[in-house]
Amino acid sequence: MALRRVGRPRANVSKPEQKLMASILDGSMTVGIVGLGYVGLPLALEFAKSGIRTIGIDVSTEKVKSLQAGKNYIQDLNDTEIRDVVKKTKLLTATTDFSESKHCDVVFICVPTPFTPNKDPDISHVVHATKGVAEHLRKGQLIILKSTTFPGTTEKYVKPILDTAKLECGREYFLAFSPERIDPGNRTWTTKNTPVVVGGVTSACTDLAIAVNRRIIDEVVPVSTPAVAEMEKLLENIFRSVNIALVNELAQLCDRLGINIWEVVDAAKTKPFGFMPFYPGPGIGGHCILIDPYYLAWAAREVDFVTNFITLAAEVNESMPFYVRAMIEREIAKQPVTLKNARVLLLGMAFKKDVDDLRHSPALKVAELLIEDGIEHVSYFDPFIPSVEVHGKRMTSRSALTPAFIKKHDVVVITTDHSAFDVDMIVKYSKVVIDTRNATRDVRGHRKNVVLLGDGK
Ligand SMILES: NC(=O)c1ccc[n+]([C@@H]2O[C@H](COP(=O)([O-])OP(=O)(O)OC[C@H]3O[C@@H](n4cnc5c(N)ncnc54)[C@H](O)[C@@H]3O)[C@@H](O)[C@H]2O)c1
Repeated sequence: MALRRVGRPRANVSKPEQKLMASILDGSMTVGIVGLGYVGLPLALEFAKSGIRTIGIDVSTEKVKSLQAGKNYIQDLNDTEIRDVVKKTKLLTATTDFSESKHCDVVFICVPTPFTPNKDPDISHVVHATKGVAEHLRKGQLIILKSTTFPGTTEKYVKPILDTAKLECGREYFLAFSPERIDPGNRTWTTKNTPVVVGGVTSACTDLAIAVNRRIIDEVVPVSTPAVAEMEKLLENIFRSVNIALVNELAQLCDRLGINIWEVVDAAKTKPFGFMPFYPGPGIGGHCILIDPYYLAWAAREVDFVTNFITLAAEVNESMPFYVRAMIEREIAKQPVTLKNARVLLLGMAFKKDVDDLRHSPALKVAELLIEDGIEHVSYFDPFIPSVEVHGKRMTSRSALTPAFIKKHDVVVITTDHSAFDVDMIVKYSKVVIDTRNATRDVRGHRKNVVLLGDGK
């Protein structure tokens, strides 16, 4: 493939750019992935599977040791594929040593971007990882930040750190932002067939980032700056947060009006244009939709702007576990049992269906609220989450869900609609089922004991 097959032809292409582009196009480049979590490890696997030498760098000795032994720790990934790229083809290696980044032509940074207890952005992992890369930066390297963050991070925070290596960005080293769109648990949209957006600091940076991504991704969408790419990722997640909040608010209204919100959404989605269905639930969780809007709200405050939609959506979504708590306590009050002695069983702790990710899970928040209210017998079952810590106490999932165990509880709550749940059995043996996900929609016959969030009963 000719050098100028990507981007528009430019004069004065620097030597480091030419060399790097050639190594990307002929596949002789080495890729580095800093941060081997839900985003970094799938990316590392894709590159290694496509025949590219890949070095993973992580601060977690546990993860690095596991990979060195050829052991997978991400639910979505194939154990054999990980073992093969580590042990057979040996194209994937893992280390905690940042100096290994000097052997990489392209370095992706995929570290966490959490928030502080006050919900301000915490980009300390990005800063730390960038410093690690900057110490070993050499001519002809391309750095691509993938962590979701507020607009301006790449140019105002990452670039100044890399610039300490005294190399010229756009000619000697290259920098771009390219957000991640992975949706753990999604079998249809994978790394390969989900388009990816890239925004480089200069057009050379963009061209190189396009070329690298094209090695493993079918469609790459360039934008004019890193800030556009940073902002578009936030728009994607805020779009979801706002729409989920809208339907969560309507679910609460429907409960008062005696209308079933699920039926309303199903009817509305028959409109073939201009509508996209979103569903209510016990709240939002995970590392993205809950956190990312706060990144933009914080950045907006710096320019004296208040992001009303974001704040309102967060308020509604974060009120949902409290709403579910009220539903549970109402059902307890109808039974001859005190709050203290009531036995509540939560089904599903993961933040969404069929994943083992507990981060910011609304089910965990519900458990916390129930325990805070003095309910002493809160238990849970989740085939993906063996144990959790709630208010400093470890809770362990039942190994299996049996009729006898269900029957022991006064209220059973479906907090996550894992496919593995036998919903018919759950409804059959429960005194009361509070269904926050409409998981019981296909249960026929006896279902008078089902209390559905947003069904108006
Ligand atoms: N999980 C998702 O579905 C998803 C989707 C899109 C975007 N994102 C974004 O991608 C980024 C990473 O998310 P994730 O889910 O992969 O996080 P994760 O916690 O699963 O993985 C991050 C990894 O980075 C490592 N790490 C932390 N600090 C480091 C450092 N200084 N140097 C090297 N390694 C370091 C951690 O040990 C961990 O292994 C976040 O910004 C997130 O918002 C995540």
